[in-house]
Amino acid sequence: MSLQVSRLVGHRGIAAEAPENTLTGFRLAAEAGFSWVEFDVMLSADDVPMLHHDEELGRTNDGSGPLCAETAAALKRLDAGAWFDKGFSGERIPTFEEAISCCRALGLAMNVEIKPAAGHEIRTAEIVAETLNALCPDLTERIVVSSFVPDCLKVAKEKAPDFYRGYLCESLADGWRQAAEELGCVSVHPNHRPLNEAAVAAIRQAGFKTLTYTVNDPERAATLIAWGVDAVITDEPSLVAALA
Ligand code: G3P
Ligand code: MG
Repeated sequence: MSLQVSRLVGHRGIAAEAPENTLTGFRLAAEAGFSWVEFDVMLSADDVPMLHHDEELGRTNDGSGPLCAETAAALKRLDAGAWFDKGFSGERIPTFEEAISCCRALGLAMNVEIKPAAGHEIRTAEIVAETLNALCPDLTERIVVSSFVPDCLKVAKEKAPDFYRGYLCESLADGWRQAAEELGCVSVHPNHRPLNEAAVAAIRQAGFKTLTYTVNDPERAATLIAWGVDAVITDEPSLVAALA
């Protein structure tokens, strides 16, 4: 089999519509017509993988300080919805396990981004790999694991080899192709801003799929798709209608 991804992937759930990296975000992404979502996974102080983007608490919840210094129980007491809109008050930071259950129930395929706090790269990837092996042996065709950190992808390759891997990057720096091949990646996930038609062609020619982030403008999304990208990762539910 090869990775079969839909043209649109909801970013951090569906970040323009719901608080990012939350279960409500997944539900609203599914309701908006998405069949894939991307989310970020980081470790709590007691090694529970949780959905969170920033190393520091506070932007997307009512906590403060580094997430990796708090236990999962403490993180679960935070409100992760009110910052976005009062109507989302009471939303909690999901564990990775809760996210998997929720996406499974909604029929959503997953782009799992390993997002380690500095110094926790190996442990974070090991726990993501263990969790995938334990909970998702039937979902290997519906999950791609990505990371900006090559060491995380290396661990994923060693510990959870059955799951697809995506090479996440800002742009195609020298050596990208060899690095992605050595890490056994099936896809490259570059930022769309520096991307051009020649780079998309180079990725395709090297045998990788292209999933590019974060594309919220429908015209830009259409251009990228015309160039041959396989998927755009977006915050915007309106792209579903725009690209239908
Ligand atoms: O995985 C694509 C995208 O989420 C990477 O950037 O910072 O939004 O996690 P970021
Ligand atoms: Mg991400």
